[in-house]
Amino acid sequence: MADTQNIVVGVPRESAPGERRVALVPRVVGRLRSAGLNIVVEPGAGGGALMSDWLYEEAGATLGDPWACDVVVKVAAPTDEEIGRLKPGSVLIGFLGTNVADALATRDVHGLAMEAIPRISRAQAMDALSSQSSVAGYLAALLGAQHLTRFYPMLTTAAGTVPPAKVLVLGAGVAGLQALATARRLGAQTTGYDVRPEVAEQVRSVGAKWLDLGIEAVGDGGYARALTDEERAEQLKRLNEAVIGYDVVITTAQVPGRKAPVLVTEDSVTAMRAGSVVVDLAGESGGNCELSVPGEAVVRHDVTIVAPLNLPAAMPESASELYSRNVQALLELLIADGRLKLDFDDEIIASACVTRRS
Ligand code: NAI
Repeated sequence: MADTQNIVVGVPRESAPGERRVALVPRVVGRLRSAGLNIVVEPGAGGGALMSDWLYEEAGATLGDPWACDVVVKVAAPTDEEIGRLKPGSVLIGFLGTNVADALATRDVHGLAMEAIPRISRAQAMDALSSQSSVAGYLAALLGAQHLTRFYPMLTTAAGTVPPAKVLVLGAGVAGLQALATARRLGAQTTGYDVRPEVAEQVRSVGAKWLDLGIEAVGDGGYARALTDEERAEQLKRLNEAVIGYDVVITTAQVPGRKAPVLVTEDSVTAMRAGSVVVDLAGESGGNCELSVPGEAVVRHDVTIVAPLNLPAAMPESASELYSRNVQALLELLIADGRLKLDFDDEIIASACVTRRS
């Protein structure tokens, strides 16, 4: 980046309940300062991730009101009150969701949604969906281990040998692959399943077996499509039979813009061995398990069903580190010749923009 002394980036304290992440960590603040940007951090912004104000000051930020800046970087979508504090003509970056576009447009603010950045090679460094899904997948494997009444690894002890746990991951995207890799590192025997056949290779590359149910559903842009009613019925029948043999079932299946598909029915849970665990990462979009209660861990038919919400916020330091680097990469794309310039002919900016100033 060239001389960018006059561009000011604001980092607010996240206000959503339970949100412990911060959009820029001190390390990345330091890098942006070196590139000439001014950074204003709201006091306490890094507190949830245990990053103190003085660390930000040491990295070159000033403490103050972040809302009056040229660019405001957030994790979660802003409240109406927060939108009202944005400077007309400014840019807001974050996971903006679907509800803020009109309010931002009224305020004459450009909104760039991190979740809408296209999954293309050039945008990999900005792919916050992937970075946060990696955190979620890792934690899902740990949640499975924590709630399971048995060991993950095989243990050979003086008191005898304990067999390894069997972990099945349904939906082998970014989160699912990380869950498989983590469970395997903890010693479990792992198996992955997806409706996109090209994933089989990736599942094997993290040391897991591939469960082939013979149903393929490849959609647009590398995502899965929704199954037809017949395919869904057939998938559930085959999954019901498969799931029974596993100690932990981690589900991550999503279809963009739709309710998450049900992959684990009450019948499957009933058939699982007592003490087994289902970790459902799709709780936010309706859940992949019929018995999930979003945000809670419940026991049904002697099986623990955990459906955490906003899992990345439970590991705020690493999640914020990765997210910050995604935000840094996007900021670099927005600045040309030392000025803030949104090029709407650029596929990344055009896709991410939820509002466009007239
Ligand atoms: P996601 O969160 O939308 O879905 C998770 C997984 O659930 C996907 O693998 C999907 O195929 C699977 N799924 C959906 N419906 C299912 C069903 N009925 N039964 C079983 N599985 C089902 O996916 P995520 O993790 O966001 O990634 C999706 C894809 O996006 C990647 O695999 C890749 O193709 C693409 N991608 C591209 C990147 C790049 O090139 N920069 C980076 C990351 C992802």
